[in-house]
Amino acid sequence: MPLKNSATYYGPVTRFLHWSVFILFIWQYLSAAIMTHLARDQTLLALMQGDFYNWHKSIGLMLLVLALARLIWRKTTPLPDWAPVLSPAERVFSHWNEVRLYWCMFLLPLSGYLFVMAGGFGVKLFGLYDLPNPIGKQGGLAATMMAAHIVLSYAAVVFIAWHVSIGLQHHWLEKDGFLNRMLPFRRP
Ligand code: HEM
Ligand code: HEM
Repeated sequence: MPLKNSATYYGPVTRFLHWSVFILFIWQYLSAAIMTHLARDQTLLALMQGDFYNWHKSIGLMLLVLALARLIWRKTTPLPDWAPVLSPAERVFSHWNEVRLYWCMFLLPLSGYLFVMAGGFGVKLFGLYDLPNPIGKQGGLAATMMAAHIVLSYAAVVFIAWHVSIGLQHHWLEKDGFLNRMLPFRRP
């Protein structure tokens, strides 16, 4: 199977990037819910609150790298043609929504990174290595970035929900096999 997208379906590289980002996003929301509710001295699955923060930050930065890889791949590899089952209005909306999804994939990790660096909390990457802090403590920036991070995390849920509902509506209600364009090991 060719690695690149064809005119009718997404190739394995696009699919791999798409679904790895999705799985890691789930982890980000799960870990965020745990770390912001767990008491400092409490443990969950033998992990302390600090461990969840660390994994949230580390995987979040990994997502930034994946977002960059994904954008470069999208810009250098032609996209398949639009699915014939999408109406002109759905095509316009899907494109608009995908641009917002890309903004979220970049701005969520960037705002999180700027928040923890400006707040002086730092990042111990995968519990192994303290990343240098190139900006130093800046209270105002930390507060703004924290607010941005939270607002973006809610906005992303709305864009993802809309994206998923178009996919499921076609695949399940209209039974036109739309998701097979992106699901692993499927052909339309
Ligand atoms: C973190 C969650 C998600 C993000 C950020 C996301 C983002 C994207 C983006 C940007 C595209 C355009 C292709 C590309 O540039 O890679 C795309 C395509 C697609 N996504 Fe997602 N997606 C997410 C979750 C999902 C889920 C859960 C489903 C399934 C229910 C899904 C189904 C699809 C399908 C079928 C396409 C192809 C659409 C078409 O052919 O026009 N996505 N997604
Ligand atoms: C795509 C990547 C990311 C997603 C989806 C994400 C998502 C979230 C969510 C949903 C929350 C909870 C917001 C709330 O309080 O309601 C949160 C909080 C937080 N995130 Fe992220 N995040 C990402 C990347 C990062 C990165 C890269 C860092 C730091 C390097 C980071 C640091 C934090 C911190 C410190 C909090 C806690 C804020 C507080 O104390 O309320 N995040 N994130």
